[in-house]
Amino acid sequence: MGAGIIGMGKYVPENVVTNADLEKKLDTSDEWIQTRTGIKERRIASDDTDTSHMSYRAAKEAIDNAGISPEELDLILVATVTPDQPFPSVSSMLQHQLGARNAAAMDVSAACAGFIYGLVTAKQFIESGSCKYVLVIGTEKLSKITDWSDRNTAVLFGDGSGAAVLGNVSDERGIISFELGADGSGGEHIKQEEFLKMNGREVFKFAVRQMGESSMNVVEKAGLSKEDVDFLIPHQANIRIMESARQRLDLPPERMSRTVERYGNTSSASIPLSLMYELEHGRIKDGDLIVLVGFGAGLVWGSVAMRWGR
Ligand code: UT7
Repeated sequence: MGAGIIGMGKYVPENVVTNADLEKKLDTSDEWIQTRTGIKERRIASDDTDTSHMSYRAAKEAIDNAGISPEELDLILVATVTPDQPFPSVSSMLQHQLGARNAAAMDVSAACAGFIYGLVTAKQFIESGSCKYVLVIGTEKLSKITDWSDRNTAVLFGDGSGAAVLGNVSDERGIISFELGADGSGGEHIKQEEFLKMNGREVFKFAVRQMGESSMNVVEKAGLSKEDVDFLIPHQANIRIMESARQRLDLPPERMSRTVERYGNTSSASIPLSLMYELEHGRIKDGDLIVLVGFGAGLVWGSVAMRWGR
């Protein structure tokens, strides 16, 4: 038996902010945003909706979808850089709200790679026999740390949550291989002071190199070749970065998720939201080999190769 995803859920706020809406407030254009990033619109949470509220909605759906009860969870891992407050953690808040009274709880801070770090951590606990079910959530309210007067960053980000329940799956399914990495020397390039600040060009160069390399590495670690890959779920930061990873795996465009168009960059939520989106649209089937790959502030990166199904 290995560890795999046995249920998923998502939540995005109803409020859609289009590029045309941003044109009214900033010196920007729909044309610039679409050609440089691929983003058409993003979801922005209301003032009274915080990260934990969105996480709860996604978590509930994932638990129901897995067919387990909250009491059966052994561990809750919440990947976020926008918790409601520094402490208590979002995971502890959820533990209470969900009634997951047997679960331990901790938040994971690995920015846009946080969901991958969470999946890999869950895999260790499950495969060691310490946990039966682990809830992993990627969740962000980036709008609360966005400087809405800075066109360099305000057009890029969005809010949302994606959740997965991991448990034991059959030998032929689940997480086959992973890679996690960090290069703290690039920490200056993307950080939160009061608001999120970013040196876009430097992050872009790092991301193009690392997304392609890490995607290939994880396939090789699985003892497979790029021809075996059925679907790519890259972190949704910028279509040009995503395309470079897709080309490295020689995958046709329709075999890569591109929810960046509709959700923008939702940091740790982008990979689970995309996975869920593709599942809902029937583009990922039982037995497919999928590669998840992300990078982000730290700088950090991570990738996972998994065979979909239970
Ligand atoms: O989740 C992980 C974190 N972040 C990322 O992955 C971001 C990685 N970086 C990127 O995606 C890209 O670097 C950006 C989308 C942020 C920027 O695209 P770029 O092609 O690297 O543009 P640039 O920063 O080189 O800027 C080109 C020009 C600049 O004008 P000048 O200096 O050439 O006159 C910017 O001021 O575009 C200008 N610009 C804008 N113009 C219209 C920057 N933002 C905007 C904007 N609208 N929103």
